[in-house]
Amino acid sequence: MGRFYAVGVGPGDPELLTRKAERILRDADVIVAPVSNPAEASVALETVRQFLDEARQEVIVHQFPMTSDKTRLLFAWQGAAALIASRVEAGRNVAFITIGDPLFYSTFIYLLRIFREAYPQIPVEVVPGISSVNASAAEALTPLAEGDERMIVIPATAGMDKIASALAGHETVVLLKVKPLFAEILELLRRTGRERGAVFVERVGSGRQKVLTDYAEIAAHSPDYLSLMIVRCSP
Ligand SMILES: C[S@@+](CC[C@H](N)C(=O)[O-])C[C@H]1O[C@@H](n2cnc3c(N)ncnc32)[C@H](O)[C@@H]1O
Repeated sequence: MGRFYAVGVGPGDPELLTRKAERILRDADVIVAPVSNPAEASVALETVRQFLDEARQEVIVHQFPMTSDKTRLLFAWQGAAALIASRVEAGRNVAFITIGDPLFYSTFIYLLRIFREAYPQIPVEVVPGISSVNASAAEALTPLAEGDERMIVIPATAGMDKIASALAGHETVVLLKVKPLFAEILELLRRTGRERGAVFVERVGSGRQKVLTDYAEIAAHSPDYLSLMIVRCSP
């Protein structure tokens, strides 16, 4: 029996990979990288490509549709689990790579559930990664929390009511997946007087990184999927 690892590769900068992640990726026989759109490159795979030996290692790019259709999702995840399990049972070491950390809002969590239920004989080892939140705070030089402060992380897809109550009850609010509700979030920040503590970070750790701290500049920007906001009560 081989081994199965879920490896967090950090937000996109190869220097933000841990030494453990690099060692496991160099030694693995098989690398599995998720993509949501087959026309786009896998950010996780591009981050680690320089550590791989594609002549020796099998690299599988597996598509996970970005959909709320549970049947389609389950089908994609069961397919990934089956191809990983067959290789591990054949004695090969498999590394499933995810951006940021594998247990932080990551689609790997579905895979972990399937492994626990359908392949309990295969142990899963998780290698933590630097999350986009930590990397963004570092690039923006923004503290996440200090002293008695409370911090909440909320995917904007949870809806405007939840974002409003998060802002009312926490010194720091981290908003993931801001793209679909960007205009509404900016309007809420303005109405609640929180616009001056807002930082916007896109594609942190990549050549396309953008860090915006000025509200007017943030409002003029059109974000992509890999973007988040950190809203502080004070700088
Ligand atoms: C499904 S979550 C994945 C989180 C990831 N597991 C982590 O630890 O950072 C995707 C969301 O994370 C944020 N994100 C991930 N990578 C990012 C990056 N490089 N720059 C900015 N935000 C990022 C965005 O808000 C994006 O919509």
